[in-house]
Amino acid sequence: MRWYFLTLFAIAAMVVGLAGFRGTRSPNRPLEFLNDMDNQAKIKPQTSSEFFVDGMGARKPVDGTIPMGYTLPEIPAQSGGYQEFGFGQGKDYFNTGRFGDYWGDGFPAEVTVDEGLVRRGKERFDIYCAICHGEAGDGKGVTSNFGVNNIANLHLPQFADPSNAQYRTNGSIFNTITHGQGLMGAYGTNVVVHDRWAIIAYVRALQKEAVTDAGAPAPANN
Ligand code: HEC
Repeated sequence: MRWYFLTLFAIAAMVVGLAGFRGTRSPNRPLEFLNDMDNQAKIKPQTSSEFFVDGMGARKPVDGTIPMGYTLPEIPAQSGGYQEFGFGQGKDYFNTGRFGDYWGDGFPAEVTVDEGLVRRGKERFDIYCAICHGEAGDGKGVTSNFGVNNIANLHLPQFADPSNAQYRTNGSIFNTITHGQGLMGAYGTNVVVHDRWAIIAYVRALQKEAVTDAGAPAPANN
């Protein structure tokens, strides 16, 4: 029996000696009973290698390889070439929504209002605006469930009824899309000028549809 306890004690001492107490840290390298792939055959950067005929460890790119990510585009989007991409810099109605100090209404000569424009507008509206204003434009988009308050219901009279004293003309909406307002961010760097007009055409179509479908403007939600 004595030997039994002594052997047990010796084994326990050995295990603790080798493995250490649970949770203790050691600056030494861990004991590797099985090789954990820490040490592998490899070539370090800038070293030579017998393996290749030319004796270099690093390989050159294959002939004809075109480097990517080293040159800037010829017309950086944010500088002089800005308007080449359709984001607009002019001072005319098409580019600003204004005639001098006043918001214009209607569509500028550069824009042809047809079915294609409205379709394009729907596509862009669903991408950029519906998340907040809702697909119907009633201000009940997904974000309204997550604390974005006072999202404009575009069917309210000040947006949809030209006889309303507060009526937002096309030019005013153009300006809102370009520069944002309140909690709404600016979309002037995301949506090109022509697409902003397409979105406005679609918003007008949504407003008309809401009136004819229900017989009255959609109910206010804010
Ligand atoms: C991040 C959410 C969000 C997105 C996306 C968004 N809006 Fe808005 N929008 C708002 C909020 C909030 C208001 C109310 C702003 C205020 O008056 O404080 C608003 C207001 C407006 C108004 C009324 C501005 C006025 O004259 O009072 C218009 C028009 C409008 N948005 C159009 C759009 C269009 C078109 C798009 C897509 C290009 C868009 N919004 C994208 C949140 C958003």
